[in-house]
Amino acid sequence: NHNHNHNHHFRHADSNASPPSSAVAKISHLKAVVLGDAPASEEDDVVLPSHDFSRQALVPSQQKYLEMYKASIENPAGFWSGIASSEFYWKQRWGDQVYSENLDVRRGNIKIEWFKGGITNVCYNCLDRNIDAGLADKIALYWESNEPGFDATLTYSQLLQRVCQLANYLKSVGVRKGDAVVVYLPMLMELPITMLACARIGAVHSVVFAGFSSESLAQRIVDCKPKVVITCNAVKRGPKTVFLKDIVDAALIDSANKGISVDVCLTYENQLALKREKTKWKEGRDIWWEDVVPKYPTSCDVEWVDAEDPLFLLYTSGSTGKPKGVLHTTGGYMVYTATTFKYAFDYKDSDVYWCTADCGWITGHSYVTYGPMLNGATVLLYEGAPSYPDPGRCWDIVDKYKVTIFYTAPTLVRSLMRDGDKYVTRYSRKSLRVLGSVGEPINPSAWRWFFNVVGGSRCPISDTWWQTETGGFMITPLPGAWPQKPGSATFPFFGVQPVIVDEKGVELDGECSGYLCVKSSWPGAFRTLYGDHERYETTYFKPFPGYYFTGDGCSRDKDGYHWLTGRVDDVINVSGHRIGTAEVESALVSHPQCAEAAVVGVEHQVKGQGIYAFVTPVEGISYSEELRKSLILTVRTQIGAFAAPDKIHWAPALPKTRSGKIMRRILRKIAARQLDELGDTSTLADPGVVDQLIKLADT
Ligand code: PRX
Repeated sequence: NHNHNHNHHFRHADSNASPPSSAVAKISHLKAVVLGDAPASEEDDVVLPSHDFSRQALVPSQQKYLEMYKASIENPAGFWSGIASSEFYWKQRWGDQVYSENLDVRRGNIKIEWFKGGITNVCYNCLDRNIDAGLADKIALYWESNEPGFDATLTYSQLLQRVCQLANYLKSVGVRKGDAVVVYLPMLMELPITMLACARIGAVHSVVFAGFSSESLAQRIVDCKPKVVITCNAVKRGPKTVFLKDIVDAALIDSANKGISVDVCLTYENQLALKREKTKWKEGRDIWWEDVVPKYPTSCDVEWVDAEDPLFLLYTSGSTGKPKGVLHTTGGYMVYTATTFKYAFDYKDSDVYWCTADCGWITGHSYVTYGPMLNGATVLLYEGAPSYPDPGRCWDIVDKYKVTIFYTAPTLVRSLMRDGDKYVTRYSRKSLRVLGSVGEPINPSAWRWFFNVVGGSRCPISDTWWQTETGGFMITPLPGAWPQKPGSATFPFFGVQPVIVDEKGVELDGECSGYLCVKSSWPGAFRTLYGDHERYETTYFKPFPGYYFTGDGCSRDKDGYHWLTGRVDDVINVSGHRIGTAEVESALVSHPQCAEAAVVGVEHQVKGQGIYAFVTPVEGISYSEELRKSLILTVRTQIGAFAAPDKIHWAPALPKTRSGKIMRRILRKIAARQLDELGDTSTLADPGVVDQLIKLADT
């Protein structure tokens, strides 16, 4: 009941401050809308920060945000070097220039460098530095098993010891600075341990989400040629056991056939899921983690690296079939993830932080491992499925560990919302103080449910817009600083200059909508696509010269709030996972009975977007349930279960222009059943195709 807020008008402490750039709100226009009122429109729906929260917040007001934002934009070098030198350890300070950049393809190659010449180590900053500052006995990791009742903890000093043992082992098998290590692990403590161990010795980790198929894993192994692959024998997800080692075995055969053989497969025995006796084994190549790693010394010298030396590679989907190896480097990424974590979650030393993302995605890199650990935070890792054994599990875990910051994805919010409030309200959730959302736009009704039911109308929600490429948050509320609008990611983080351009690349002002780009670099930006700098330039910097192009659409409302509207390229966002339509199509057409396929995204109640595939079987093959299943299975085995099409729509032929281009605009409308919005079909080589497709829609 928010009635007490009626007639409570919001005063703008900073109504005289002038916004530092057009990207920032025209604050004087901000309407005073009261909680509980039915707003005239989404953009007038405002949720005010509570005074109690704002009073204790790191950034307690719009005015403070604007001051800091202005400083960060007017003098990025000063802003970021101030943070970098006061909050991190550098063996040697960077050279004369804090950063140098060229984001304009017309002026030569794209180049971004931050803190070049600075010598540091991210693992040292996560562990040793925090231990020296008195956090040795603070809990670094809480681990909660898929099975209720099984858990574990590591303090910062215990974590350092584990990391050093693995780092020493990796060195003993020949892993050196700059070498790649592929990691295919579920959410065990060994996953962040592995990432940190690689960082400690200057090795470049490439974590592959343990839901990817053997073929996807092999593709990544072939691309980055690791010395070692690290995995575990199996994992339980909900009631199911997934035999990860079998998937790795298949991937290693596959990659060996393509000329890349891996000498060492370090395998953790995950005893709760599978005993070692039942694990398939290749003598000589496979080594049990537990047999070797604990024998190594618990201390390990740090490999000091340049700020621009690579930290990790993470593959992500683009609009062609081949995944892109996004490369992040050391110094800028370190400073950026730590700083964004601290401000966007209003981090306090006493917080217990839980991010439900898997370390196989960028969210798990930046906001399970690096950002929180750099802040000396207590991080909870959950191995299992969020609704196992029932939809109350998340809140059970929140109460058990007294979680204060809970960061998740809209898809989980929507699915728990469907299961009903009773699973939430039977738990206290009193410890919660900040909520977060990531991966796709959060629809206002899910936002409201998250805010009111989960957070008891007490906890601000940080709706963080960012990407694998950006390394860290780009547009996000700072809790306590701004009134929030459910569904809007609000304003840019410090140092970030988002711009909205039209199709000609002209910057739009004020209330507008168009393509989201970013002007000038920020420390956490990716530096290249591994082995393909040209693709980096073509994909991200050529579409709108002078800017980094995000691939997202965005509008800005009259108050300057940003509203992300989804991808504008051939990428679909399924449960916050990025999937290239081309990847699904190439998996489908690899099926011997598939002649042609076209994939589009379609609205989905829980997943945000679902995968909708139009398939033309080869001549003489008829539509059948069996074929449908076998097509879906092909996608599961080639990419992973998360990319399985939700719908196969039989297509005698696909709508094409006379030059043979598939008209996806029409397919999207058919998939959405917006049949009266098909638009102009006269440019089709054969307009009759559309009628055939409509007839087959529900077969
Ligand atoms: O479309 C945007 C969407 O997810 C894309 C980035 O996906 P990925 O690199 O896998 O990283 C996901 C986690 C950072 C973006 O281009 N996206 C991510 N967060 C949001 C979002 N869309 C709207 N609101 C968000 N908060």
